[in-house]
Amino acid sequence: MILVTGGAGYIGSHMCVALAQADEPYLVLDNFSNSHPSVLPRIGRITGRTPECVHGDVRDVALLQQLFARYQFTAVIHFAALKAVGESVREPLAYYDNNVAGTVTLLQAMRQAGVRQLVFSSSATVYGEPASLPIREDFPLMATNPYGWSKLMMEQMLADVDASAPGQWRIARLRYFNPVGAHESGLIGEDPQGVPNNLMPYVAQVASGRREFLNVWGNDYPTPDGTGQRDYIHVCDLAEGHVAALRYLRQHPGLLTLNLGTGRPVSVLEMVRGFEQASGRPVPYQVGPRRPGDVAACWADPRLAERLLGWRARRDVAAMCQDVWRWQDGVARQLAD
Ligand code: NAD
Ligand code: WQD
Repeated sequence: MILVTGGAGYIGSHMCVALAQADEPYLVLDNFSNSHPSVLPRIGRITGRTPECVHGDVRDVALLQQLFARYQFTAVIHFAALKAVGESVREPLAYYDNNVAGTVTLLQAMRQAGVRQLVFSSSATVYGEPASLPIREDFPLMATNPYGWSKLMMEQMLADVDASAPGQWRIARLRYFNPVGAHESGLIGEDPQGVPNNLMPYVAQVASGRREFLNVWGNDYPTPDGTGQRDYIHVCDLAEGHVAALRYLRQHPGLLTLNLGTGRPVSVLEMVRGFEQASGRPVPYQVGPRRPGDVAACWADPRLAERLLGWRARRDVAAMCQDVWRWQDGVARQLAD
């Protein structure tokens, strides 16, 4: 059985679907600090079985000891974290406690139970401002905010744990670029609290009429159309990449570090146009100043994951936008609830 921490969240819920479709039994642990239990029956409508979920916190030592004693976990996929860059600047201790201390507690419980297979959610944010593009896994690492530092610290922790017991651990550090999209059913997707920080949910809310217009943060970048370029990857491709990484770890002990991206840069204006085509709705925008901390462009060299895992992202921008629109439109959800 696989323990999925943060499995009720955006990426975690799509991971549940991918695990079910891969016939991999799993258990969700989530404190619902950024998600809601209502996602669980909607996962059940997709997979035919509502996930078993423990409402709890990865920092709860006693709870983890109970879970590892009760279930025969073979691996952990660790999504549970706080992930808002701006919030991390205002609340650094909350991020170090939740993300770093939470991972220490989890690793200690795993070691005590003899469970040494882990897939870890890392982020392209650990590359900071890359010196060149596309980004390879051996590029220099640099954080520019407490969230990014928390990811770097956890990556280092995992490397040290692996080195402390050669050949005993099987760890994959997966560096996600920009996850977007939603399951094709329209039943699960990204549901940010409050005003979305990220581009895709904000664009979707403008298209639905919930917001008046999109602020395009800068159109004077050294990019083809002047707006920021990112490597957007469909969340279902990302989840399938995790299944492939799990299967790889079963055959290969040690530490694996991989970029999960498409290798294809997409600009803000390209994404706006894609969403207008997918939704049939206008996405009005106003150009504003560059957002502090933003890089002009960031995209992955995805070849190592392709070579080692036999996996690549398959879904294009049109699919990303169509799936988000179906989720945002909410019809399927209303029928399900
Ligand atoms: P999310 O907030 O939707 O999901 C995280 C889940 O973890 C939530 O359900 C939350 O309730 C839960 N959680 C948080 N702290 C917890 C704790 N202490 N104990 C138990 N549950 C806890 O975020 P997401 O977008 O699904 O991201 C999942 C992971 O992927 C995170 O580690 C994030 O840093 C990483 N990541 C996300 C992105 C992105 O753009 N979404 C990009 C790169 C990396
Ligand atoms: C994408 C592009 C913006 C919003 C962030 C985190 C990163 C990771 C993924 C967790 C940029 C532009 C955005 C808007 C805009 N999260 N934009 N108007 O900043 O690449 O990455 O999410 O790990 O850590 O930093 O994603 O979606 O915020 O921005 O013009 O209202 O869209 O300037 O060019 P980002 P994003």
